[in-house]
Amino acid sequence: MRIGIVGGGLMGSGIAEVSARAGVDVTLIEVDDAAAERARKSIERSLERAVGSGKLQAPERDEALSRLVYSSDLGDIAGADAAIEAIIESESAKQQLFRELDRLLPDAEFLASNTSSVPIMKLAAETTRPERVLGLHFFNPVPVLKLVELVRSLMTSDETLIRARSFAEGQLGKTTIESKDRAGFIVNALLVPYILSAIRMYESGFASKEDIDRGMVLGTAHPMGPLALADLVGLDTLLYVANSLYEEFREPSAVAPALLQRMVEAGLLGRKSGRGFYDYTS
Ligand code: CAA
Ligand code: NAD
Repeated sequence: MRIGIVGGGLMGSGIAEVSARAGVDVTLIEVDDAAAERARKSIERSLERAVGSGKLQAPERDEALSRLVYSSDLGDIAGADAAIEAIIESESAKQQLFRELDRLLPDAEFLASNTSSVPIMKLAAETTRPERVLGLHFFNPVPVLKLVELVRSLMTSDETLIRARSFAEGQLGKTTIESKDRAGFIVNALLVPYILSAIRMYESGFASKEDIDRGMVLGTAHPMGPLALADLVGLDTLLYVANSLYEEFREPSAVAPALLQRMVEAGLLGRKSGRGFYDYTS
């Protein structure tokens, strides 16, 4: 099987790595050669780390590396058996991309989006075969977290759902859950209002960021606190998701706090930019 993955940031590179390790040929598309090179380096680092910790043998690493092709020309995914979109969380950018995927991959088994929150129907409606479009929502870090949400729009066919589930479970070894096509799906509809309330708590001076995070780690056995998790997700992505949730449900819990907006405007995006609620430069 050959899969085209568009977007090689945090998520796209994770999905590409996990797919190549599972024996799938991957063509990974980025915006330009420099971004494609960053994706390559990030995947190579992650594979090295897996070898270092004994999770992967060197020959398996080499085989995974040989399955990965990087490009900045979207046309290079023509002929792939399926595609997964993992570009920035912008509805208009994703809609434009789905129009192009529809043209380039007329025979694809499925055209999937890894969107955190954009309703799948808004992307499917841009194509001539909405029955082949669905959400395949992976979790960060993809090599570690087992879950994939399958999101079926009003138009997704049974066959597409079965093929995508078989890819995520049979091929990649993930566990799937099925969500209706509502902004945020199951997990982010619950998780993002929680992170936003932690930001509001910090913004209002109610508690320090360290104590908020320590409270949730030690008090509820979460692997990391909400502000550290916001930094892991990326504050730009979090802001997009909050806005999508608010647009869909109009609930005050999804309103993005001013602090989150200012941090994104300042380029403080979390781990990926080196600074968010915490500093990652050292
Ligand atoms: N890639 C690959 N492997 C990674 C990794 C990465 N980016 N980060 C950590 N790991 C691996 C490590 O190699 C390590 O493996 P071993 O035990 O075999 O050595 C293991 O994960 C644990 O890592 P660490 O010891 O470095 O650190 P940790 O124990 O603190 O775990 C963590 C780090 C996995 C990120 C953990 O803190 C965690 O699971 N946090 C919660 C993450 C979470 O909630 N993600 C969901 C975000 S929401 C989302 O994804 C949806 C959305 O649409 C926004
Ligand atoms: P990111 O900012 O790390 O990566 C996005 C990448 O897409 C960038 O490298 C960018 O150069 C590339 N890109 C943008 N437009 C493109 C285009 N037209 N063609 C090719 N590449 C393009 O973001 P991310 O965290 O990887 O998020 C990607 C998607 O996954 C988003 O929809 C996000 O909501 C979703 N998601 C994110 C997380 C998370 O925790 N960060 C978890 C699950 C899902």
